Amino acid sequence: MPTIVFVSPKGGVGKTTAAMILATQLSQGADVTVIDADPNRPFRSWSSGGNCPEKLTIVADADEENVIDKIEDAASKTPFVVVDLEGTAAKIVLLAVSQADLVIVPTQGSQLDAEQAGRALAVIRQQEKMSKREVPYGVLLTRTNPAIRTRTTAHIQQGLREAGINVFHSELNEREAFRAMFSFRQPLQGLDPKDVANLDRAIANADAFTLEIVDKLRDLRAAA
Ligand SMILES: Nc1ncnc2c1ncn2[C@@H]1O[C@H](COP(=O)(O)OP(=O)(O)OP(=O)(O)O)[C@@H](O)[C@H]1O
Ligand SMILES: [Mg+2]
Repeated sequence: MPTIVFVSPKGGVGKTTAAMILATQLSQGADVTVIDADPNRPFRSWSSGGNCPEKLTIVADADEENVIDKIEDAASKTPFVVVDLEGTAAKIVLLAVSQADLVIVPTQGSQLDAEQAGRALAVIRQQEKMSKREVPYGVLLTRTNPAIRTRTTAHIQQGLREAGINVFHSELNEREAFRAMFSFRQPLQGLDPKDVANLDRAIANADAFTLEIVDKLRDLRAAA
C-alpha cells in the first residue's frame, strides 16, 4: 500500500511537521504507520504524550540496516506508510526512496531552500537510474505566509514549474497550530482553540494538503 517518503537534504525545512500533519490527518479515517527513521525519533517523543490516534502506529527503530524491511512490513499491514527521515543525504534516504510510491520534498519559500530542493531531486534521479523506474515526487512549499502570497513564493513556484519540477498546488502555511502539535503532543484535532490561534485555518490547510496527496496517490494507482 502507498508509501510516502519525506526527503530533503537540508535540515529544518518542515519534513517532520509535514509528515506529522499527513499521518495524523490520514489516521482519522485509515490505518497509518509512520516509520520514524530520524535518529532523534521526533514521532516517538510526540507519541509519548499519550495522544497518538488509535489508527496511527509508530515504528521508531528504523535504521540503515533494516529500513527496507520495516517499510515492507508496514506496507503489508496498513493502507498508508509515512516515512520521516533526517535532513541529510545519508544512505538511508536512498534506501527509503527505493520503497516510495510518492516522495514529498518540503521546501521553504526562499531561494536558498529551492536550491536545496534541487539536491533532493538529484537523490530521486539517482534512485530512478538505480531502479530503472520513475519515482513520483512533488515539491511542497512550507511555512508560507497565509496572509500575503509573497512574490518570492510565487516566483519560486513558477521557477520550479518552468524547470519541469513537480510542485504541489497546496502549501503548508506558517501556523502556530503546526508547532503546537509538537509542544502539546497532540494531533491538530486534540488542540484547544483557546490555546492556539487560527486552529480552524490550520486544520483547513492540513485537510487541503492531505486531500491533494490522497488524490495524487489515487491517480498514480490508476495509471499503474
Ligand atoms: N508550517 C509550519 N508552521 C510553523 N512552524 C513550522 C512549520 N513547519 C515547520 N515549522 C517549525 O520549523 C522547525 C523545523 O521544522 P521540522 O522539524 O518539521 O523540520 P525538519 O525538516 O523535519 O527538520 P530536520 O531536518 O531537523 O528533521 C520546527 O521548529 C517547526 O516547529
Ligand atoms: Mg525532522
